[in-house]
Amino acid sequence: MSSLRGNKGPRYRHVADESAPYETLQIDKLTPIIGAEVGGIDLSKPLGNRQIDELHRALAENCVIFFRDQHITQDQHLAFGRLFGDLHIHPAAPAEPGKPELMIIRADKDSPRANGEGWHTDVSCDVEPPMGSILYIKQCPPKGGDTLFANMYAAYEALSDRMKAYLDGLTAIHDGEDAYRGTYANLGVKDKPVYPRAEHPVIRTHPVTNRKALYVNRGFTKRLAGVPRDESDGILRYLFEHMENPLFQCRFRWRENSIAFWDNRCVQHRAMWDYWPHTRSGNRVTVAGDKPY
Ligand code: SIN
Repeated sequence: MSSLRGNKGPRYRHVADESAPYETLQIDKLTPIIGAEVGGIDLSKPLGNRQIDELHRALAENCVIFFRDQHITQDQHLAFGRLFGDLHIHPAAPAEPGKPELMIIRADKDSPRANGEGWHTDVSCDVEPPMGSILYIKQCPPKGGDTLFANMYAAYEALSDRMKAYLDGLTAIHDGEDAYRGTYANLGVKDKPVYPRAEHPVIRTHPVTNRKALYVNRGFTKRLAGVPRDESDGILRYLFEHMENPLFQCRFRWRENSIAFWDNRCVQHRAMWDYWPHTRSGNRVTVAGDKPY
């Protein structure tokens, strides 16, 4: 892993946000670079416009936001997601009965795998990948089961100018086939004939912040388009290793009834399955997004 040390101090320098204080929310940052716990809000109660605006702002400024001690029903979880856009239906994962937008996240002693064990961006194989994901964990193991999040603006900004110039205008193929085929068979989910596949820019511009973010991930990105296979493999290997630098990350320690809301346009995440044979379970609501540019 590169040290990101330049000749004079760190090569990546995060510029802290100095904007106006929030009126309705308490923001407690996990690190200067990514993640904040949001207090002063009860998601089981109707939210005012000012709170909703400040939630949008908190997500834009912190890339992933967390809420503690929330007691919401499945319908309230879905309604919270709809405040941010239409809801996305996962192409493979199981959902709660009669609620296709409410994905089941669960691992227990009988699970052959857990969701999201490798670094990924949710469903980046879709032509219009999800904007955000809202995970509500209701049952936690006694220890472990953390989720790691990494800031892809920071990963982009820390690249050398030469690498940024090389990647500018390149696209990559994202494919759901390997990630999804057979993955949920133990839960009785039948495979689809085909899974989504899409070509996206390697560097995407966030439609809200207008900032550039690295947009390739180990879970779905198979190759760079228009360059020889060995070159694509080498560059992707470098980018995957680069984005995993802990400097860009925060790690969220779940407690029961916590919620994480991450912005898939500028964040990758990875779930730790270090708690077998214990159970960790909850639901994810995923907000639809638009075509990366
Ligand atoms: C996922 O949505 O990728 C799962 C994340 C988690 O379980 O922490």
